[in-house]
This record gives sequence, C-alpha cells and structure tokens, in this order.
Amino acid sequence: MTARDTLLVLHDLRVHFETERGIARAVDGVDLTLYRGERFGLVGESGSGKSTLLLSLLRMIREPGRIVAGSAHLEGTDLLQLDEETMRQTRLQRVAMIPQGAMNSLNPVMRVGEQIRLAITEHDEGSVADERIDDLLRRVGLPAATSGLYPHELSGGMKQRVCIAMAISLSPQLILADEPTSALDVVVQRRIMQTLAGLQNELGATVLLVGHDMGLMAQSVERLGIMYGGNIVEVGTVEEIFAAPKHPYTRQLIDSIPVFGERRDFRPIPGGAMSLLEPPTGCYFHPRCPEVMDRCRALAPDLRDTAEDHQVACWLHHQDSIDV
Ligand SMILES: Nc1ncnc2c1ncn2[C@@H]1O[C@H](COP(=O)(O)OP(=O)(O)O)[C@@H](O)[C@H]1O
Ligand SMILES: [Mg+2]
Repeated sequence: MTARDTLLVLHDLRVHFETERGIARAVDGVDLTLYRGERFGLVGESGSGKSTLLLSLLRMIREPGRIVAGSAHLEGTDLLQLDEETMRQTRLQRVAMIPQGAMNSLNPVMRVGEQIRLAITEHDEGSVADERIDDLLRRVGLPAATSGLYPHELSGGMKQRVCIAMAISLSPQLILADEPTSALDVVVQRRIMQTLAGLQNELGATVLLVGHDMGLMAQSVERLGIMYGGNIVEVGTVEEIFAAPKHPYTRQLIDSIPVFGERRDFRPIPGGAMSLLEPPTGCYFHPRCPEVMDRCRALAPDLRDTAEDHQVACWLHHQDSIDV
C-alpha cells in the first residue's frame, strides 16, 4: 500500500455527559486517523456515540456534555485548542457538517436561496452573489429555481441536497455527514450518496459518514470504523472488514444485513443496548458476546493492528490473550 496523506488524527478523544444519574462516557477514548480524500464510514447502534464524536470535532457539544480529554489534529492543528474565533472560521471553511436530521431543521419560512446565503455569511465575510448560490444548487443536482422555493415545496431528497449545498459552500477539506439519508427511501439514498461522492472527489475532501446501515455504508465508503459504547472496536477497509471481520460485534452487524431475494427474518443483535452510565467491566461488549472469555470480563482490549489497514480491539485477536 502506498503511504497516504493524513488529514485528521484523533487521539484519546473523550466526551462525557454529566447527568443527574451519573456520567455517560459517550466518547470513551477514541483514536482514529482519516486520510485526505477518503470516504470513511462510522457504524454502530443508536447511542454508541457517533453523533457526539462528530459534534466534538466542531466543538458543538452542548451542556451537560463536555470534551474532557484528547486531541483532534486537522493538518497539524488541534481543533480542540483553537480559540473561539478561529473555531468559528474553521467551521464550514475547513470542516463542514451535515447534522443528523438536517433536512428537518431548515427554516420553514425562509426561501432556500436565502438560507444558503445565510449559512455562508455566518462563516465568511462579504456578500454572496446569486450566481454562487445557483452554482451550488446545480452542483448538488438541483435546478437553480430551487433558490426561490420554501422547504415545504421540496421532497425529502431535495431538502437533503440543500443541506449538502450548504456544507460544501466554502469548499471544506472535511465533511462530516451524520446519517444524511436515513429518513429517505432506498433509491433516493443511493442517488444522494453518489452526489456526495462526486462532490467529495471534486473538492478532494475527506468524508466522515455516520450511519447504522452496514449495507448502505459498505457501498458508500472505502474504510469503516465500528463503534460500540463510545469506543471504536474495529477499523479497516470495507473489503477487509467484509472478507475477514474480526470483532464479534462486527460479524453480527454484517449478519444482520438483509440479503436481497433471500427470505430471512431480520436478525437483531442479541442482548439489550449497553448503558453508558453503568458500563460493564472489561470489554464493553462482553455481556452480549457469543465468544466471551474470562479475560474479557476483567480487562478492556485496546485497538491493535491485525493486518495492514485493519485494527481490532478484541482479546480473541490479541496474541497475549491466551494465558490470562
Ligand atoms: N444531551 C445529552 N444529555 C445526556 N446524555 C447525552 C446527551 N446526548 C447524548 N448523550 C449520551 O451520549 C450517548 C451517545 O449519543 P449519540 O452520540 O447521540 O449516539 P449515536 O449518534 O451513536 O446514536 C447517548 O447514549 C447518551 O448516553
Ligand atoms: Mg446520532
């Protein structure tokens, strides 16, 4: 493999929500490297910390949440250490986000073109010509006339395209997309993913895509990270992960993908979702793991290389796990 150009390096990132019932460690020590120009997918069940991870990169975590440790270097600059003003300029210009449920948060009483204009001027000084807005709409596959419409006059897919237009308006190097197609039907999902991939290529940007649909993810990204209970438990290329999934949770996620044409009941992953307030000892997945060993109950495994561009946090795959 050729050496790849690194864009973002997360190290020991930790985000806690300090609630009355206790501390929820929503992001619990994440290490992750993203390369320039790649599409990386983060998959995990609801509540595993995916949105929190993305929001922390833009420092948009709200009370009672707090980034308590770690670093997030974008081209050598730690986003977590920037002053507020530099952070404001970084948003949209260098890192843009399509937040979860973005299309439902468009302002219902403002025309689409004005909303795009407002998004741009919030992060960039100067006026925004109509041509620039028309061009953005065209690039996301919408007619320029969309500019004069209100959100309720658009389909879900079109609204999501408007949100993508805002996200790419200042040519960011990193695009964070949080379940951008989850409310849409399958055909529209695919088309929007294709649009996003086309724009990403055009910009040479990196896309960090969050989702819980392993099947759609596999078609949309080049590498995958599997998240469980605030931790990344496996990272690798889509080929590697599907050909040789290492973590039992990853295997279950792959097994739960419905196979087209095959009549099979949806196979949910056994066991309830874990509580972040009272996480299990050792490996957080151990109470639901079909291959649990004594060591798993006592000690949390760290993320280690198992092959080139494939890492896993699981005692089954760590050499020294034999003698406990
Ligand atoms: N506003 C909040 N108050 C308290 N806890 C929160 C809040 N937002 C998120 N959390 C905690 O963070 C965890 C991860 O949430 P989130 O990042 O939204 O997960 P995901 O995007 O993977 O579904 C939740 O399970 C919850 O425990
Ligand atoms: Mg989420």
